[in-house]
Parts: sequence; structure tokens; C-alpha cells
Amino acid sequence: MVKVQKNTVLSVLLLFLWSNCKHMDHLSIIKSPILEELEDFKCLFESSLSTSNHLLKSVIEHIRQRNGKMMRPMLVLLTAKLYDGICRSTFHAAAALELLHTASLVHDDVVDESSERRGQLSVNAVFNNKVAVLSGDYLLATSLVQVEKTRNHDIIEVVARLGQDLAEGELLQLSNVSNLSFSEDVYFDVIRKKTAVLFAACTKVGALSAGITGEKVENARLFGEYIGICFQIKDDIFDYFENKEIGKPTGNDMLEGKLTLPAIYALNTTKDAQATEIALKIKNGTAQADEIALLIDFTKKNGGIEYATSVMYAYREKALDLLAPLPDTDVKQALTAYLNYVVERVK
Ligand code: IPE
Ligand code: IPE
Ligand code: MG
Ligand code: MG
Repeated sequence: MVKVQKNTVLSVLLLFLWSNCKHMDHLSIIKSPILEELEDFKCLFESSLSTSNHLLKSVIEHIRQRNGKMMRPMLVLLTAKLYDGICRSTFHAAAALELLHTASLVHDDVVDESSERRGQLSVNAVFNNKVAVLSGDYLLATSLVQVEKTRNHDIIEVVARLGQDLAEGELLQLSNVSNLSFSEDVYFDVIRKKTAVLFAACTKVGALSAGITGEKVENARLFGEYIGICFQIKDDIFDYFENKEIGKPTGNDMLEGKLTLPAIYALNTTKDAQATEIALKIKNGTAQADEIALLIDFTKKNGGIEYATSVMYAYREKALDLLAPLPDTDVKQALTAYLNYVVERVK
């Protein structure tokens, strides 16, 4: 008996170590073709944020304590490297996109009334909503300052439209809260606009900065879009589980009236009067904590997590198909590892 327990503990430990090693492995493969460039990027990102305003300085210092995973700049650099074309405008474009991403997180935590981000207090929690809104605006404007430095009209257009799409995605999500159907189409529309467009912009500007034109740019954009869809589905699955490692609260989506892919699937495939009633309450903001727990349980018991995971893997396949014709280089391996990291990540 004791032996069995010992074995169980040992295998859990091994599994834990193995899964962590695997992520480390993905990350080192992702970074290895762009190690120097990533350092140069970080310097530029830091210098883009220098300011003499005291309040802004303390907000930026707070944000800079935890850098985030830097998924978007890595994707810009890798795409430009794929075409052997990393140049000054690649760095400025990568900085612009990471700044826009950071701005959207600062605003998102105000909109979602969320007090934790990247394993620390969110800007709105440390300061207040007013400071967070205004600092988010500053970050957004800094993103424009950076993109202008690319002197590339096509890249500037991508970033300008991206700002519109991200805001539209968040507004679409907000108005969908009061829409009483549980639609996968609307879900995909929202995640394309609020998340996937940003990843699509990363691969598109990466290719444009390398001087690529035509169909190749469209393929690069699509590759980024598929990554972004995987990324948000994974993020939405996180919300159904307790996990300290994620560094932001879980269980928040339903509190905010959001039903994501796992619950949408379960509700549409298993018709259940009680679950439907709770889902409608979630949407109109009147559900109690115990009801939310019931719907989470219903979703898990009715295959919602498995379904969302399988859809995510299908998008991963579509992305891999786009990589397939490329020669087998370290950059292609890094992009493959990037995709694997997105679907297997633990934070
Ligand atoms: C969070 O993105 C926002 C979503 C699209 C879900 P990340 O998880 O990439 O955020 P950081 O930059 O690493 O904190
Ligand atoms: C993700 O929004 C996309 C953004 C524009 C930040 P969420 O509200 O779903 O993301 P998290 O879970 O707070 O990072
Ligand atoms: Mg949000
Ligand atoms: Mg949020």
C-alpha cells in the first residue's frame, strides 16, 4: 500500500517535471534563432517607455516588474527571420505591437474589474481606474510613436486597423452578454477580433518588414490568426480550472456574463433546462456563485473541455499545414514549437 502511494507520488512528480521541461524545451527552441534580436528588442521596448511624468513613471515601473511572456514580439521577430529580413522596422513594429497589447491588458482589467495580472496586482488595483485608463491611453499612443518609426505605410496601416479591431472585439463581447443565444459563430467572431487579429498583425508586420509582398504576406497573416485562435481557446479553457500559476484570476468569465466555447458546446449539445436557466442568468448578471459552479461542472461533465481542446488542435493543424511547404530550418522549428507552446502552455 505504502509502496503504491510512493509510486504514485513519484509518477506525479515526474509528470510535473516532464511537463515543465517540455515547456522549457518549447521556449528554448522558440528563442534560439532570435536570442540576440530579443535582447535588442527588450532595450528598445524599455527605452520607448521612458517618461518624465512621475505618476506615469510609477505605473510603468509597476508594469515592468513583470514582463509577460513576450509572445507577440517573438512572433514578429521569427516571421521576419523566416524571410531573412529582420531590420530596424521589424523592431519598431514589434515594440508597437507589444505596447498595444500591454495597453489592451491595462484597459481590459478595468473593463473586467480584475485585480490580478501577471501574478501581481493589476494597474487599476494598485492605482485606480482613472490612472489605468489614462496610462493605457499613453501606452496606446506610444505604440503609434513606435510604428511611425517604421516609415512603412503598410505596417502603419496594419497597426492602425488593429487598434480599431481590438476595440470592436471588446465591444462585440460586451454587447453579446445580453444576447440570449449561445452561438459558436459569435464566439469565434469575438475571439478573432479581440485576440487573433493581434497575432495575425504580428506575422503580417514581420513579413512586411522583411520586404515580403503578395500571397506570402497573406499566408503569414493567416498563420498568425490561427495561432491567436488557439491562444484564446486555451485561455478560455484555463478559466474553468483553479491554477495559481496562470497569474490572473480564473472563474472570471462567467462572473462577467461571458460564456466561452466549452460551455457553449455543452449547452447546445446537452439540452438541460436547469443549465440553460443558469446560463441565461449568467448572461444577465444575476447568477449566484453556486450556480456558476454548477454550470462549470455541467460543462466539464458534458464534454465541453474536450470539445474546445479538439477545436484548438484542429486550428493548430491548419497552422501547421501553412508551415509544411517551408524548408526545414531552425526558424520553422521555432514556429512549430511556438504553436505547441500555445496549446500546451500552463500560463
Ligand atoms: C493575455 O495575453 C491576453 C489574452 C489574449 C488572453 P498573454 O497571456 O500573452 O499576456 P502576457 O503578455 O503574457 O501577460
Ligand atoms: C483577452 O481578454 C483579450 C484582451 C484584449 C486583453 P480577456 O479578458 O479574456 O483576457 P484575460 O483573461 O483578462 O487576460
Ligand atoms: Mg476581457
Ligand atoms: Mg480580462
